[in-house]
Amino acid sequence: VVKFLDLVAQYESIKDDVDAAIARVIGNAAFIGGPDLKSFESEFAAFQQAEHCVGVANGTDAIEIAIEALDLPANSEILVPANSFIASSEAVTRAGHRVVFCEADAISYTIDLADAERRITPKTGAIIAVHLYGHPCDMTGLMELADRHNLKVIEDCAQAHGAEIDGRRIGAVGHIGTFSFYPGKNLGAYGDGGAILTNDADLARRSRMIANHGRIDKYDHQFEGRNSRLDGLQAAILRAKLPHLQGWIDRRNAIGQRYLSGLAGIDGLTLPSIKQNVRHAFHLFVVRTAHRDALQGWLKQQGIDSGVHYPIALPDLAAYDYLRSDSTPTLASELAPTLLSLPMGEHLSDADVDQVIAAVRAFQP
Ligand SMILES: Cc1ncc(COP(=O)(O)O)c(C=O)c1O
Repeated sequence: VVKFLDLVAQYESIKDDVDAAIARVIGNAAFIGGPDLKSFESEFAAFQQAEHCVGVANGTDAIEIAIEALDLPANSEILVPANSFIASSEAVTRAGHRVVFCEADAISYTIDLADAERRITPKTGAIIAVHLYGHPCDMTGLMELADRHNLKVIEDCAQAHGAEIDGRRIGAVGHIGTFSFYPGKNLGAYGDGGAILTNDADLARRSRMIANHGRIDKYDHQFEGRNSRLDGLQAAILRAKLPHLQGWIDRRNAIGQRYLSGLAGIDGLTLPSIKQNVRHAFHLFVVRTAHRDALQGWLKQQGIDSGVHYPIALPDLAAYDYLRSDSTPTLASELAPTLLSLPMGEHLSDADVDQVIAAVRAFQP
């Protein structure tokens, strides 16, 4: 059996460090705040080459809090790519703004900048750049576009820990960046967790206050915030994992390259493309075929797990009936039934990857 993801195997490979981290937090009763949270924030900021990191409860809260911290006028329009997980758009509405879906580029699957620019109006306040599947958006083009129109850029890095563009880690390339530590992510907690990164000290301070009831000091609440914290246990577990992250990402890239060469030249199968100036994080390895469901079924018969990210494009979800119009993006809807995520992660051996390649090659539509 080739698993899509194997968190038990990962735990077994780092068991002593994780067990010691958990025992340390319980031994100090440092459940909320505490030394592990503080250290993780600075270690993760350093890893991602950002100046500030604020731990929060999950990646969805991270986006919502980041948007709030930007302090845009109420009901601003925020551009969101149509191909993402609902958190990217849900956070916009929850923060009191209006979602404007944009086309996703058919090659990188990230936001199509030309389409985004056409959707800008005087009410547009920000763009959410989702580094989907771990491949960075064109941040140079995006920042230029944002500068031209005076927009803020939020990087949704939930799938892209460790990804780079022009030799620089993503996360603080835009004005503010958000991460998820959902267990299956490239860096995953043992529960929910998230973080906000930025090089802007004011945005970091505001984010920290919003996430902690609008305060810095214990009962001195400057405004109404909320409770969204990365807890001490999760921070300690993430700290135990962080030293391994670069190796895991390197392994994901090696697997990605092995798939790319092993699967090259199959009729009707589109492989992910990697831009020259990026380092992919390969959270997911997503191929495209008109026979997606049949291929998935065939792989299952061969004992190979796969996934679909995402079965329904955001604009087609019932949650977004209210936004549908003639200008609703369509490309993500066309792509949705064709996308298949092959097993990806450091748990895979070369033999596992070769087994997947052989099975895909043997598939007869
Ligand atoms: C692109 C993207 N954004 C945001 C999130 C939300 O993260 P979380 O599940 O930690 O709330 C996820 C993952 O779940 C995601 O894939």
